[in-house]
Amino acid sequence: MVATQVYQVDPYQPDPAAITAAAQALAAGRLVAFPTETVYGLGANALDPAAVARIFAAKQRPFTDPLIVHLAAAAQITQVATALPPEVAALAARFWPGPLTLVLRRGPHVAPNVSAGRESVAVRVPAHPVAHALLLACGLPIAAPSANLFSRPSPTTARHVLDDLAGRVDLVLDGGATTIGLESTVVDLTQTPPVLLRPGGVGVAALRTLLPDLRAPSTPVVVTDTEAASSPGTLLKHYAPRTPMILLHGAAGDDDQLVHMLVRTLYTRGLRVGLLLPDEEIAHYADLRADLVSLGPAQDMAAIGRFLFARLREADSLGVDVILARPVAEQAAEGGIGLAIRDRLFRAAEGCAIDAADPAALEIVLRVVRRRRIERG
Ligand code: TXA
Ligand code: MG
Repeated sequence: MVATQVYQVDPYQPDPAAITAAAQALAAGRLVAFPTETVYGLGANALDPAAVARIFAAKQRPFTDPLIVHLAAAAQITQVATALPPEVAALAARFWPGPLTLVLRRGPHVAPNVSAGRESVAVRVPAHPVAHALLLACGLPIAAPSANLFSRPSPTTARHVLDDLAGRVDLVLDGGATTIGLESTVVDLTQTPPVLLRPGGVGVAALRTLLPDLRAPSTPVVVTDTEAASSPGTLLKHYAPRTPMILLHGAAGDDDQLVHMLVRTLYTRGLRVGLLLPDEEIAHYADLRADLVSLGPAQDMAAIGRFLFARLREADSLGVDVILARPVAEQAAEGGIGLAIRDRLFRAAEGCAIDAADPAALEIVLRVVRRRRIERG
């Protein structure tokens, strides 16, 4: 356990004294959590294998899951990566600083545990003024995964960081809530054609203007074995609340009565239900004995993305037995950040989905709750 120091900083003009203290901590091999435009990161000097090892220990993250290296500017890329493919310059010019991570060939100075022993390295230049000031002040490439315990929802506020990592991180820069709310898009440029490993803050449509042959699955990629996952963000159980969560398909409106019946029956079976729904649907269920958590306006993907992880944590803290969540419609998700929202909801539910109209829906919910109870002892 360490005494975690917290510095409040203005997100646009962070106090130089706080930035200096955080930069010195990083240079000394300590862990610093800081806001980026996507989610909070848990940073350590990427050139120092002992510092990097502390990240894995603090997060309880398997050593097989590689980390993203953060830079102050694209010009530093040659310090961490080699044999850059020609697309990098245009991608960097267009999307950096910003929520895009590129997987490249690893340079010799990067601590091998950053990449979990792979020959590749993931790199990004964050846009958040606090992250930028910190990277500039320390002058080091900083390895930083999301600052949450492994497989928990990513943190979008300093409070989330402390809920998971108080006593495990040396210093936290609290720059308020992050604006995008979902992690960066990860693209692997070591493969030909390039492959989308994780949908995120930069949409596929925008990427294809520069990478026309980008391979991007439209449904989430599921890998069940950490060792085999080319990018362990593709593990099925990721970003998951502790409470069992199930995606609830079926059109709003038509299925109101079916959802009502399902929730009532669960209630009479002694199960408390949390419903995670778009704003427009909340009113339909106000009379139910269920805890309602809003996902945001159904068509506003940016707003849903910004608060998704906070809502998952909120739903998890209600003490309900099961969370039923509305997925985001495929059409609404096309091209942009909606794909990332669909991906995170799918993984939070560990891939489990039901249709309210399915006669077996009740049985499935009961079975999932029972199975998770056994898994959790
Ligand atoms: O927005 C973000 O990317 C945030 C902020 C803090 O920058 N970071 C983040 O890191 O989400 P993390 O560690 O939670 O997710 C990193 C993702 C994982 O899915 C990991 O498997 C993948 O990037 N990744 C990292 N290095 C890789 C590599 N060499 N090859 C393939 N995938 C890699
Ligand atoms: Mg993460």
